[in-house]
Amino acid sequence: MSQQRIVSGMRPTGPLHIGNYFGALKNWVALQSAYECFFFVADWHSLTTEYADPSKLPQWTREMAADWLAAGLDPEKATLFIQSEVKEHSELHLLLSMLTPLGWLTRVPTYKELQAELTAKDLNMYGFLGYPLLQTADVALYKAQKVPVGEDQVSHLELCREVVRRFDSLYQKNVFPEPAPLLTPHARVPGLDHRKMSKSYNNAIYLSDTAEEVKKKIMPAVTDPARVRRDDPGNPDVCVIYDYHKLFSDSATVEMVNVECRRAGIGCVDCKKKLLEGMEKLLAPIRDKRTELMQHPKQLDEIFDAGAVKARKVAEQTMTEVRTIMGVK
Ligand code: TRP
Ligand code: SF4
Repeated sequence: MSQQRIVSGMRPTGPLHIGNYFGALKNWVALQSAYECFFFVADWHSLTTEYADPSKLPQWTREMAADWLAAGLDPEKATLFIQSEVKEHSELHLLLSMLTPLGWLTRVPTYKELQAELTAKDLNMYGFLGYPLLQTADVALYKAQKVPVGEDQVSHLELCREVVRRFDSLYQKNVFPEPAPLLTPHARVPGLDHRKMSKSYNNAIYLSDTAEEVKKKIMPAVTDPARVRRDDPGNPDVCVIYDYHKLFSDSATVEMVNVECRRAGIGCVDCKKKLLEGMEKLLAPIRDKRTELMQHPKQLDEIFDAGAVKARKVAEQTMTEVRTIMGVK
């Protein structure tokens, strides 16, 4: 009964990769049994960077919905919905914007960092500046106590706490709890080239990749660069294949690779083949479910529409309080 409430969202910007899976989704699947969870596809947040060409957004949203269900999120356990289907998020964002000092937004570190990184896009827009305030509304709308996120989102939650604290102190009310981040364990999954796994680096393995595509990515991947010949001993600690073994293979295999690589007892080709077995075991059922779901978009829509109805019930209660306090209808 007194389950703690959790809210989190993901920006749809393309199909999910194994970094998203191990970094967030897998954790969400575990959380849905222990908490009252609200998980939403943050399509409005995608527009903060994709506003100039939103043509792919509906497809990305649908793919994310399919990825979630395929990976094991269960609409019976968690409330799953699309952010833009619950308009109250935008209303709370607007109302909170009235009492959010501009300086609080400009000093959020991701604001300048991302603007500097994504130079191909003109991000000198209010929506981009307001990104963490929309996120604040996402969380506050459900009065969540915990927000499962990665390290990179901690500053957004900091702003969130400041804004809800300001609301409560300004109006001398006790409306919002202060949400705390629930940091994801072992969130770092390197890309095939050792950089951060990302669509834009072309180094990602997707939940939608076929077995053949996964193989085509794994087999040519660079291993320990010092290991030139088959009988050179290797160092698994600098090898992305070993990182993936730790995610996909059983512990006996991980230990075998750790030992045999160092004494050239196993070659990289065999090591990769072994990894592919472990990957298939985890990825094949997700891929199959995903394919099936993508063939039935109506069914997907129904599941997420029903989630929006549930979310709106909670959102409406919060908005009734907030509207009254702020003197609007
Ligand atoms: N900003 C988050 C990210 O990029 C996505 C997000 C949007 C979110 N709204 C949220 C996460 C609310 C947690 C709670 O990962
Ligand atoms: Fe990497 Fe495996 Fe080759 Fe060792 S044997 S370098 S862990 S691929």
